[in-house]
Amino acid sequence: MSRRNLFIAFEGIDGSGKSTQVRLLSDRLIQKGNKVYTTFEPTNSRIGTMIRDIFSHKMEGDHRTIAGLFVADRLDHLLDSQNGMLKMMKDGFNVISDRYYFSSYAYHGTHMSMDWVIDANAMSAALLRPDINIFIDVAPEVSMERIRQSRESVEMYETLENLKAVRNKYMEAFEKLSGVEKVCMIDGNRDQATIAEDVLKCIERIGN
Ligand code: ADP
Ligand code: TYD
Repeated sequence: MSRRNLFIAFEGIDGSGKSTQVRLLSDRLIQKGNKVYTTFEPTNSRIGTMIRDIFSHKMEGDHRTIAGLFVADRLDHLLDSQNGMLKMMKDGFNVISDRYYFSSYAYHGTHMSMDWVIDANAMSAALLRPDINIFIDVAPEVSMERIRQSRESVEMYETLENLKAVRNKYMEAFEKLSGVEKVCMIDGNRDQATIAEDVLKCIERIGN
């Protein structure tokens, strides 16, 4: 583990096992005596709640509106004076987020120009760039099956066709930003413990 506190973003298609790996990594780092703050996007703020209401069809919203709400939700996630990620970084926590701006590039990049989405998130990138983006790569068929088994309802973006498109967009975004972003690709089609070991190796490699 590096001596300074890190910002780690987990990425992947729905059902790829991000939340599971965020929990395992957090437990492991805390066990080793590190300060850890785990968080996620869409957040629980009023903006995040609006996004979830659109996803669950309680509210209507165009894809472009959703992309804009995510930009606002992310800025709020960074800048909130009580528990914003910048405040947590300043207080010496290692911050682990379940999704960050690559999710926007991949999910909204399937509906609109990815460059527009990248530009719209430039402020977030300038405020806090992840020390590492960890991509849990799972076959869309596998994650679809996990979603079916673990959820009561399937969300707006959770169709096999869409998961395939989103995975392709992730790859396109990683390629496009290879000069500026650090990405660690992990095969997520394996058991949780093996994946967690790879995540840890990836963290140990950075900042040293
Ligand atoms: P995400 O946060 O990416 O949507 P989750 O961590 O919630 O994914 O995992 C989705 C489902 O798949 C959960 O039921 C979880 O227990 C299960 N799961 C997570 N990782 C694995 C794995 N490596 N192998 C099999 N099932 C997994
Ligand atoms: P999340 O609650 O993380 O779902 P999951 O556990 O299935 O990964 O995210 C909800 C949805 O929000 C998910 O389908 C991805 C989508 N999303 C975007 O479309 N844009 C974004 O910028 C983010 C962060 C998430």
